[in-house]
Amino acid sequence: MRKKIVAGNWKMNTLPAEGAELAKGIVAQRATAPAEVNFIVCPPFTHLSQVAEALKGSNIALGAQNCAAEEKGAYTGEVSAAMIAALGCRYVILGHSERRQYYGETSETLNLKMARAYAHGLTPVYCVGENLEEREAGKHFDVVKAQIEEVVCNLTPEQFAGLVIAYEPVWAIGTGKTATADQAQEIHAFIRKVLADKFGAAAAETPILYGGSCKPSNAAELFAKEDVDGGLIGGAALKAEDFLGIGQGFAK
Ligand code: PGA
Repeated sequence: MRKKIVAGNWKMNTLPAEGAELAKGIVAQRATAPAEVNFIVCPPFTHLSQVAEALKGSNIALGAQNCAAEEKGAYTGEVSAAMIAALGCRYVILGHSERRQYYGETSETLNLKMARAYAHGLTPVYCVGENLEEREAGKHFDVVKAQIEEVVCNLTPEQFAGLVIAYEPVWAIGTGKTATADQAQEIHAFIRKVLADKFGAAAAETPILYGGSCKPSNAAELFAKEDVDGGLIGGAALKAEDFLGIGQGFAK
């Protein structure tokens, strides 16, 4: 049985006190969603300590939205994998399309970041996905395949065993446009096949999350698909009720 995961990517939203309140709200309402769903919250770096404190004693895990490609040293403004691990993070989102698009992250950088994450015991949530132009040109399979092959296929089988993947079509992120459940299933199954070609049967255990305007009203339909193992949630992760409501999608 693959893990069911609902992860909240708060992006650059909330101030520390608001983040702590949001985390407390999620803890308080946790029981409204099925027990078997693994919830992860990924606040900005600045709130990790406060949110970790708010999550204490709950079964909600903490993640960061990024980490540095280097171990430590003269890298002004960067935050290392060791630092986020020390604050209680178990997960780190890597390769989000906003990082690829606005901060020039390439497969080369992401290979280094993945290595740093694993070295500090963090589980990467590795994001892939095509933009609108690529989808319209029918190139989405090739784009996603390259994003997997250039990074994930460099992992050892031991590292791969812990990996979480998020498929996020860029045209669906923050736009209110969701991929249909069939579109998601089609590409999730394709991703699993690319993984299986490299890692064999272990690919059957990899959680593949869908991201892009996922909300309580469409989660159940998406999560009903065989290869959709949960969601990476942006906007709807900023309200405890909506975030947990998405987890309820597994109950339907
Ligand atoms: P969204 O963002 O849910 O606001 O579309 C998803 C993401 O970028 O992770």
